[in-house]
Amino acid sequence: MGIVGGTGPAGRGLATRLAAAGVDVTIGSRERLRADEIADGVRARWPERNLTIVGADNAGAVSADLVVVATPWDAAPSTVRSLAGELAGKVVISMANALVKDGREMLPLIPARGSVAAAVAAAAPGALVAASLHHLPASQMEDLDATLLADVLVCSDHLEATAATVELIGAIDGLRPLDAGSLNQAGAIEAFTAVCVTLNIRHRAHSTLRLAGI
Ligand SMILES: NC(=O)c1ccc[n+]([C@@H]2O[C@H](COP(=O)([O-])OP(=O)(O)OC[C@H]3O[C@@H](n4cnc5c(N)ncnc54)[C@H](OP(=O)(O)O)[C@@H]3O)[C@@H](O)[C@H]2O)c1
Repeated sequence: MGIVGGTGPAGRGLATRLAAAGVDVTIGSRERLRADEIADGVRARWPERNLTIVGADNAGAVSADLVVVATPWDAAPSTVRSLAGELAGKVVISMANALVKDGREMLPLIPARGSVAAAVAAAAPGALVAASLHHLPASQMEDLDATLLADVLVCSDHLEATAATVELIGAIDGLRPLDAGSLNQAGAIEAFTAVCVTLNIRHRAHSTLRLAGI
């Protein structure tokens, strides 16, 4: 799998956990050298794990069969648009949250089309877009010594994308993927990240989402 904009904390954390689960990961960047450095750094941090993570430019990352978009939210649609040809027919997971900080609080923004994921889908009309991974704290994902315990919501208009995303997330120890419906749910899922991050700020925590009764 490939991660567009995978050099940030979110991409690094996901790459680390997936590689630890035996998945081949390509970290993408606008600058190939930066991706190489980040991939080298993750492998060096966990030398005994033999993590299969390599660097590439973003075009290289989308040659994978499954792609995660991990850029800032406002860069996701334009980045995906520039790669749309290569993404046609592929499962593309949007994990971006449109948030703004206001004092000790995060507030959700409403992107054009109602969610970042919907904007990503419009930018790559041939791709099978799912929205997921929004609520996972990067610091915990990056630390393989930290025990993960979290539910991960997945929504998409494509059964194939939901199934592939559920399978990918299910490979990571401690994560329970949950089908949360169509891409219409993405706006609410993304916006709820503002609540999660605000809780973390107020309680100095790295909380994860867990749903009772399901
Ligand atoms: N951090 C978390 O805990 C967390 C958790 C869940 C979801 N998310 C979401 O995941 C996404 C990434 O989070 P992050 O904290 O890793 O973000 P980030 O560090 O700000 O950005 C990730 C990468 O995106 C690339 N990028 C930055 N600006 C860009 C632009 N204008 N155009 C194209 N690429 C650009 C950069 O890679 P290059 O410079 O190497 O190209 C950067 O390393 C965000 O949308 C966030 O809402 C974050």
